[in-house]
Amino acid sequence: MIKDNNKPLFHPTFGSRPAQIVGRTQVIEDFAQGLREPIGSRERCRFYIGQRGMGKTALLLELADVAAEMDYVTASVTAYSGMNEDIIETVQRNGAKYIVEQKRKITGASGGALGFSFGLTFSDEVREQYGFRAKLAMLCDELERHGKGLLILVDEATTSEEMRQLAITYQHLVGEEKNIAIVMAGLPHAVSGVLNDSVLTFLNRAYKSNLGPIKISEIKSYYTEAFKKLGLEIKESDISKAAEATKGFPYMMQLVGYYIMKKNNSAVDIDEIVNEAKEDMVSNVFEPILRPLSDNDREFLVAMAVDEKTSKISAICKRLGKSNSYIQPYRARMIEAGIIEAPRTGEVVFAVPYLAEYLRANQLEKSAVIV
Ligand SMILES: Nc1ncnc2c1ncn2[C@@H]1O[C@H](COP(=O)(O)OP(=O)(O)OP(=O)(O)O)[C@@H](O)[C@H]1O
Ligand SMILES: [Mg+2]
Repeated sequence: MIKDNNKPLFHPTFGSRPAQIVGRTQVIEDFAQGLREPIGSRERCRFYIGQRGMGKTALLLELADVAAEMDYVTASVTAYSGMNEDIIETVQRNGAKYIVEQKRKITGASGGALGFSFGLTFSDEVREQYGFRAKLAMLCDELERHGKGLLILVDEATTSEEMRQLAITYQHLVGEEKNIAIVMAGLPHAVSGVLNDSVLTFLNRAYKSNLGPIKISEIKSYYTEAFKKLGLEIKESDISKAAEATKGFPYMMQLVGYYIMKKNNSAVDIDEIVNEAKEDMVSNVFEPILRPLSDNDREFLVAMAVDEKTSKISAICKRLGKSNSYIQPYRARMIEAGIIEAPRTGEVVFAVPYLAEYLRANQLEKSAVIV
């Protein structure tokens, strides 16, 4: 059932909140279950890994709501410089209403607890002289006194001094039995950087989930219900075709749904709609993925794109005229970047739908060297 929340049923924009999170029921349930685990449990420290457009930001937004219903004050931040200050401010902002309300109820007065001037606003002394860890510990204590835990959500997690500071602080606070949990999300290569960082090693014990494609059957059900709600009459066979064409990619699902919606019941040609959606994929997904790659990386991908589905490493070697050991670093780097996957030893496949097709078309334009 689609929630009645007045959000547009299709909204193909990165970082936007979809009307409904499709196909992540289990992921969300696991997360909620994790929050019920005792303080310090591995399940309370989660890492969601997903390729561009797989729905990391959308999921984090949803998880923040789920946690809020479970008596957690949440701080959602993006891992950029200033992140930890942002965490403190967001906790203060999001948590204040509970503190003030309770105080009023009990004493009819307002005023700060020790170290706070009002609600969750620090006294001048604390604000000026205390560090991140002490401030966060104080906020946890004050929230706990009002029956609230703290959940920090970090999007686009990557290695940085501030991530290290946050990781160390989290560990300390867990050691002090504070009711705190943390959720991070990032692209595969950023995440592997985080996981290989010596200071951030504890994150290796974090509960890691890969956000893969959404099941086609779930997309079909959503389309059916959403089109009905929009008063659109779309044939079942067209709905199936549209759902299949998304290949389970959430961004593609939003795009295809959006273009069908825009047609507003005038003759819908799914092939035409899918082509329109693919154009958005080029500028918003493929180009950002390919831009930072070296020429050799790209040649490797173009050599892969010759195959319809999986590619044998031996075939890629042949096409590039290179040895297995020469191409191994490229293979490893592309896997790390989440652009390709290795379903079996000696084989690789594209992780992003329609990228192979795009590379093939582009390569033709450049009159390829690949045979
Ligand atoms: N489970 C989902 N159900 C429905 N729509 C979704 C879902 N996940 C993501 N979307 C939609 O797909 C698009 C891309 O999602 P999002 O921005 O969350 O991806 P992302 O993984 O954070 O991408 P990036 O790596 O570029 O930050 C958005 O339009 C979003 O609303
Ligand atoms: Mg995102």
